[in-house]
Order: sequence, then C-alpha cells, then structure tokens
Amino acid sequence: MSVPSMIKRKTAPDIRARKNGEPIVMLTSYHAHTAALVDRHCDVILVGDSLGNVMHGFETTVPVTLDMMIVQGRAVMRGSEHALVVVDMPFGSYEASKEQAFHSAARILKETHCGAVKLEGGARMAETIAFLTDRGIPVMGHVGLTPQSVNTLGSFRAQGREEGSWQPIENDARAVAEAGAFSIVIEAIAEPLARKITQEIPVPTIGIGASAACDGQVLVLEDMLGLSPRTPKFVRRYGNLGPAIEAAIEGYARDVRSRAFPGPEHVYGMKTKG
Ligand code: KIV
Repeated sequence: MSVPSMIKRKTAPDIRARKNGEPIVMLTSYHAHTAALVDRHCDVILVGDSLGNVMHGFETTVPVTLDMMIVQGRAVMRGSEHALVVVDMPFGSYEASKEQAFHSAARILKETHCGAVKLEGGARMAETIAFLTDRGIPVMGHVGLTPQSVNTLGSFRAQGREEGSWQPIENDARAVAEAGAFSIVIEAIAEPLARKITQEIPVPTIGIGASAACDGQVLVLEDMLGLSPRTPKFVRRYGNLGPAIEAAIEGYARDVRSRAFPGPEHVYGMKTKG
C-alpha cells in the first residue's frame, strides 16, 4: 500500500477563502524545473495555455491542444508540492457543450492530478461552470481580455477602457462567480473597473494587467523574467534572464570551438594523454 504524502497542497477552497485577505500570488509554469522554483513563493501555479506562445512559438493560444496541456500539467505537478496547480482548458476543449467541458476537465484532473481548471468566458460560460463545479471540478474563471477569442476580437487590446463598455465585463464577472467559480482572472482592464468588480463579487479576483486593485496577481513567468521575445506593455520585468542565458551559451560555444572544453580529468582527476 502506498503511503499518502504528508505535504498538504493548497486547495481551491483555500484560495476562495482569501477574498479580502492576504493577496494571492500566482505565476505560470509549464515545466517541472520552473514549477519547483515557483512553488516556493506562490499560492497558485497556472499551467497556462500561454505555453502555446511561450514554448511553441505560436502567434496565439488557439492551436494549443488538450494533450499538450495534460503533458505540461503532469510535469508541473511533479515539480511542485505546495501550490494549487490550475491547468488551462485550451480552445476547442470546452465550448461546444457542458458535457464536452466535463469530459475534458475530468481528463485534466485524472491525468495530471491538478487541483482545478481554468476556462475563458463570462456569462456565456456560466452554465458550463455550474455543471463542472456541481460535479466536483473546481473552476477558475477568466474574463476581460480572453486571448482564445482573438479571432473574433480582432486583437489583444485592453478591455473596458471607456466607462460605457464596463457593464458587459461586470456582468461576466458576476455570472462566473454566481456559477460557482472559486476565483476569477481578470485580464487587461482599466483600474476603476477592476476595483469595482473586486468590490462587487464574493470570490477573489486575480489580475493580469488589471491594476493592484485585485485580490491577487498573475504573470506569465517568462514575461516577468525577461525571456519572452514579446511582452505585453503592462508587465513589469523582475529579471532580464535572456542576456544572461545567451552569455552562458556563448561561453560554452567558445570553449568547444577553442578546445578549452574541460576533459574527463576535470571529473575523474586523471590526465588525458596527448
Ligand atoms: O495562459 C495564461 O498564461 C493565462 C494567464 C495570462 C492568465 O491565462
């Protein structure tokens, strides 16, 4: 019989209980090695479908598949111990019907052992969110800018810039919360609207490009580390790893080309003949 782990991971209800409390810290990760680092400092790790842009070089998240999300979700679960791991439902895996959404979300939970899924969309997804949560699947919502809809939106522009356009976004956030989502990502919306939504809804808001008025924040790890070729304007860089990694690769290539690469004596303490 296997011994259950004594380490307690954060759960969706733990995050839900943080409304108006200590701000929620969330970052993306797609790999075991970055998950281990993020896990030490974050409450939630998001296996975002942004992996399509970051890891695979796609222009949008539309080509990302359920299988891609599951493979990376498993890696992140192996690399982390404490944080709640949330896996994004990719475009095409949940919109057709609530049954399709349940089938896809159940695969994600069973095959990755993560603690929750995230899906994009407001009022139009409320019925699906209620269907999933009623059947034991914790759901994180995502409103405001929803990148999977880029082909109907036409661009990745910030939402709700003018007060006249606030109402549908507020309605979306309320509908998702009422449907049972345990928290909601609100992306690329103006500060007064983010503040209003955060005050109005009973579950934590997690902002990305939506100001400090939210109950927590999320960023794409590679964006804040300075590793992404293109970063949204609102992202503050906390590191500039691109040049450091390139310098290391350059040093390695130089050593190999100049035959200065350390030989086995470096490891085994023996002299090579020659
Ligand atoms: O896919 C992702 O990384 C996301 C965040 C930008 C919130 O959805």
